[in-house]
Amino acid sequence: MIVTIDGVAASGKSSVAGGVARALGMPYVSSGLLYRAATLLALEAGTDLGDAPALLQLLERSPLRLEPLPEGNAVFLAGPQGERDLTADAHTGEVDAGVSALAQLPELRGWVNARLRALTPPFVAEGRDMGTAVFPGASAKFFLTASPRVRALRRVKERLDDVDAVEAALIARDAKDRQQSQPAADAHRIDTSELDLPGVIAAVLAELER
Ligand code: CDP
Repeated sequence: MIVTIDGVAASGKSSVAGGVARALGMPYVSSGLLYRAATLLALEAGTDLGDAPALLQLLERSPLRLEPLPEGNAVFLAGPQGERDLTADAHTGEVDAGVSALAQLPELRGWVNARLRALTPPFVAEGRDMGTAVFPGASAKFFLTASPRVRALRRVKERLDDVDAVEAALIARDAKDRQQSQPAADAHRIDTSELDLPGVIAAVLAELER
């Protein structure tokens, strides 16, 4: 069983996927965290975010491990001194601003998708194109939306930033991610603007029980 939860930036995908996964007793997998980790490594190495061959070379010599825990996904880089946890560094404003450029590259999408398809079900997969490009045969698909203002207000709690600036950045990122963010025709769409987190999780679980 694979359940996909896609949606626009800061629509609550990770928190909802985590809650649904815990209720179902299975892991959830954050595809965005792989795009973010790759972007972080590129920014640290000074690699051009549009240079697919250089990015793939960098990823080949930087072994990343995604830990799909139900409480929250983490990503680690293996190194001579042991593993480095990249998770917090992958959620900065710099990574937010750069990730869409890397995520546009078909080669980098292939790199992420191969890692996701190698995982053994059951799991909940969360991102933009889980129900379309990556797992078109998923058992159930969801697509989350919310108004830009609501999403900015949610994210500002995590980023301690100005809400207008966060809203503008989310709208800009949605535009750059538009191509891979089209809902699957058979996805259940949930507008989360008026719902709290337990409400969205309950709506997903109710649909799964039908
Ligand atoms: O939670 P938030 O929407 O802020 O970000 P995320 O899900 O961690 O995704 C970060 C970025 O990765 C997105 O802005 C996209 O550029 C890219 N992404 C993608 O292209 N396809 C996916 N399936 C997941 C993420």
